Amino acid sequence: MASPSSDDESDHPTSGQQFGAALVAGLSQDNIFYLAYVCIQVLGICMITLCSVWTHHHLSGYSLATPEQVFNYHPLLMTIGMIVLNGNGILIYRISRWLRFQRQKLIHFSIQLSALTVSAVGLYAVFHYHNVRQIPNMYSLHSWLGITAIAGFTVSLLTAFLAFLYPGFHPVYRRLILPFHIFNGTANIVLSASVAITGLTEKALFSLQTPGAKYSDLPAPAMLINFMAISIAVFTVLVVWLVTKPEFRRRYIPSVNAPQYKLRREQTIE
Ligand code: HEM
Repeated sequence: MASPSSDDESDHPTSGQQFGAALVAGLSQDNIFYLAYVCIQVLGICMITLCSVWTHHHLSGYSLATPEQVFNYHPLLMTIGMIVLNGNGILIYRISRWLRFQRQKLIHFSIQLSALTVSAVGLYAVFHYHNVRQIPNMYSLHSWLGITAIAGFTVSLLTAFLAFLYPGFHPVYRRLILPFHIFNGTANIVLSASVAITGLTEKALFSLQTPGAKYSDLPAPAMLINFMAISIAVFTVLVVWLVTKPEFRRRYIPSVNAPQYKLRREQTIE
């Protein structure tokens, strides 16, 4: 037989239980989306700030005066282009749900084009540094993966422009290309994040050589680099989550009869 005290507990939830219930009720799909989106923006600001502080206080800062200072633009611009702008461009359809589709496409394309432009300048910076200092080009794993990421990004941007904007392919081909475009974009930001993290590791090992202040001693610049890498990793995980969760789609159709599934069924042999 239940004791009177347990009946009391179920009739009158404690303030902790009330808070928990209010929290769960407030966690609608929209609120979860916006919470994660705010975290993404904060992480974006964090990685740019950490990179600038590291470069100003522990490397030679940004300038065109010496090749070393030109190099310093590389991590900053690659992070802004391949991670921050790329991530924001990817999320544009999910964050600007009130905009017309054509307008969203134009904004998406403009952000991705500026991401590529900023990254191209960042890439030029490192090639310039290598050429002036007579350091061999394209020998490291970081450089090979980096070129793969940039090439993939460029091909994706070019094909998407032709297919979806100008001249624009027939709707059937557009629908066929779209899943590949979405997959490429998602895979590319994951690859870009790994490239940036290998670049950070490499620079940490190259630049932290003073006895007593080596990378393994975890001096202040090593902490900045490690926190920057963590910001990049969490930023990317959140972007991938927001862009792959069906409930966060622009128009969520929770049905196997959604046009994309119908089209895929029509294309299969079954
Ligand atoms: C997605 C972002 C990035 C891409 C696509 C990328 C791409 C590249 C490429 C293609 C090179 C070769 C240049 C050459 O051989 O002359 C390079 C070099 C280099 N990058 Fe990055 N990078 C990125 C981010 C970073 C970051 C965040 C750092 C941090 C410091 C960094 C550090 C370096 C270093 C030290 C080199 C010279 C050594 C080497 O060639 O591996 N990179 N990067």
